[in-house]
Amino acid sequence: MSDFLTSRKVRAEAPCTGDCRTAHVREGIASLGAEAARLDRRGFLTQTMLASAALALAACGGSFGLGESMAPSSVGASIKLADYSALATVGGVAVVTLNGARLAIVRTGASSFVSLSLVCPHQGAIVATTSSGFQCPQHGATFNRTGMWIGGQPASNMRSYPTTYDATAGTIAIG
Ligand code: FES
Repeated sequence: MSDFLTSRKVRAEAPCTGDCRTAHVREGIASLGAEAARLDRRGFLTQTMLASAALALAACGGSFGLGESMAPSSVGASIKLADYSALATVGGVAVVTLNGARLAIVRTGASSFVSLSLVCPHQGAIVATTSSGFQCPQHGATFNRTGMWIGGQPASNMRSYPTTYDATAGTIAIG
């Protein structure tokens, strides 16, 4: 296999770093097509190289459509604790949408709560709740119940928001 093909194969098998962008990948395919046409006289190599480009897209882990969701910088809403039975016990998680923000509110203690954006900090997919925390269905980043990254696809921690519990009013304010 030529050095050119070998380098393309390595790129195709490399894990997504989160740096890829649609324009970049399209540019790479155009480059591959041009180079393949120059190197190939019988058409075989062209097909092989374009197939490698397709693999590179797959290795990107679906960056198309991802990275477009961003966790908002603030939420500015409140909920009534009594409306969410999942929050009646410590460890409970309520999934809510407030002011367009998809959130998980976690009861971490008798009078403490954390609010986390469900937008994956890797490329913007919506993470799912698990028995012990959260996991992104897109590339497998895993987070504990307070949103700290603990494994899978490297990513930062889930975005959290200031969360204040008013025991008298029975409300939870998310900043
Ligand atoms: S979008 Fe890649 S791990 Fe979540």
